[in-house]
Amino acid sequence: VRERAAALGGHGDPQAIAATIARWFGDPIPPDLADAAATAQTALEGVDAEGYARTYRLFASADTAHVDRLAELAAPALFMTGSEDRNSTPAMSAAMARLAPSGQCLVLSGEKHMMTIASPRKVTQHITAFLDRTADVAASADAAFDAIEFRRALGSFLTGVTIVTTVDEAGDPRGFTANSFTSVSLEPPLVLVCIAKKALGHQAFSTSRGFAINILSEDQKAASGIFASKAADKFASVIWQPGQTGNPVIEGSVAVFDCDMEQLVDAGDHSILIGRVHDFTHNGAQPLGYCRGAYVTPGLSQEALAAAPPGTEVGAILESEGRVLFLEAADGSHQLPAGHGLGAANDARSLRGKLAAKAIDADLGFLYAVWDDATDASRTHVYYRGTVSAPLSGDGQIRLVDIDRMADLKIADPAVRSMLARYARERTEDQFGVYVGNEVEGEVRPLAKAAPSAAIHSGHG
Ligand SMILES: Cc1cc2nc3c(=O)[nH]c(=O)nc-3n(C[C@H](O)[C@H](O)[C@H](O)COP(=O)(O)O)c2cc1C
Repeated sequence: VRERAAALGGHGDPQAIAATIARWFGDPIPPDLADAAATAQTALEGVDAEGYARTYRLFASADTAHVDRLAELAAPALFMTGSEDRNSTPAMSAAMARLAPSGQCLVLSGEKHMMTIASPRKVTQHITAFLDRTADVAASADAAFDAIEFRRALGSFLTGVTIVTTVDEAGDPRGFTANSFTSVSLEPPLVLVCIAKKALGHQAFSTSRGFAINILSEDQKAASGIFASKAADKFASVIWQPGQTGNPVIEGSVAVFDCDMEQLVDAGDHSILIGRVHDFTHNGAQPLGYCRGAYVTPGLSQEALAAAPPGTEVGAILESEGRVLFLEAADGSHQLPAGHGLGAANDARSLRGKLAAKAIDADLGFLYAVWDDATDASRTHVYYRGTVSAPLSGDGQIRLVDIDRMADLKIADPAVRSMLARYARERTEDQFGVYVGNEVEGEVRPLAKAAPSAAIHSGHG
């Protein structure tokens, strides 16, 4: 091709044209291609010779300008050639179709290089069929991809709610409500949150040295609403103080992860802020949830239960490192801690009062079971599932029993026995861990081993 490009003069060269026609249509020209060959010859003779020569030189030398660019071809692309084409071979078309992300290769049997002139109808049919096909695919993709439905579908993922905070260049606190928080890595400790590029705070967050993630409690719904708004002084509505890194830490949060900026990742209409956790705190408050555009309170208001009818027995399955806390009676039988109502530490008959009397520092998590008494319909039993901080006081009655040994205990109430059997069953199903490793090797570690302080310590100490 380069030789031919160099040989082409400024004037129409009958010999060169004859050689080209022979290359394209064969020599001698088969009778069925005579018309096509004549058309091509007329075109070559009528073409501006200088322009043709320049274009040919460009064709011979311009490959390097386009090398590797097929991968960027976003649109569906058809690479078509003839099975007998020695210039643009089937192998070349197939290679190009492989490189283009939505490339297709089509080889027309028996066709030669100038199939557009020799068999225009056939070529056009294949091109229109390709265009129709891609139009159909695009239309069905449009119909399938409804952005509002997409948001709705995403909303079915039940999340917590956070307020992400930082300090802008002027030294002012900035914050926004986010539920795109995710833990990323244990070693090093990384978390992430996504911020919309159209958020007023995007500039401040994407250029900041770090940020704090405040995980909200059930009591912070109002703050969530304010930080999801464009209010000018969002921080006037909360009590906050600068954390170790200077990022605002909001009082009353369930947990706070104070982070240095580890990496900023550009992702569509959002930026992903990946933070390296510098400092963190957490407590036993009930976290706020969010699902399908509404707040949910998985903790089920303990306050509502505090006012439960006097007959309500409120108990707790309190776990510490795979063992459950029981109180052992003098006759060797075992009971879960329970009282009349949830109450308070100074109400000796209530669950909280009984726990306080034995210096048991418990975090009552979520409601686990509720049932009516089989013999006395006015009595309801309510059990929480929670955690307890070890070590426990030396109270002789307190026993921590391995979950798989609970079935051996003498427990008077059959309803409690069957609840504990369910607990043991579900607890093994729940035993989820964190995959630690890379794409070739790694292991699933139980959360408790991987991050003992975060997973097990539940008290306030
Ligand atoms: C529950 C909830 C979760 C949200 N999650 C995110 C999120 O993950 N990322 C985000 O950029 N915006 C999120 N938003 C919206 C922002 O909070 C909202 O756009 C806010 O106005 C941004 O503040 P700014 O524009 O003052 O920076 C969420 C809002 C709510 C109510």
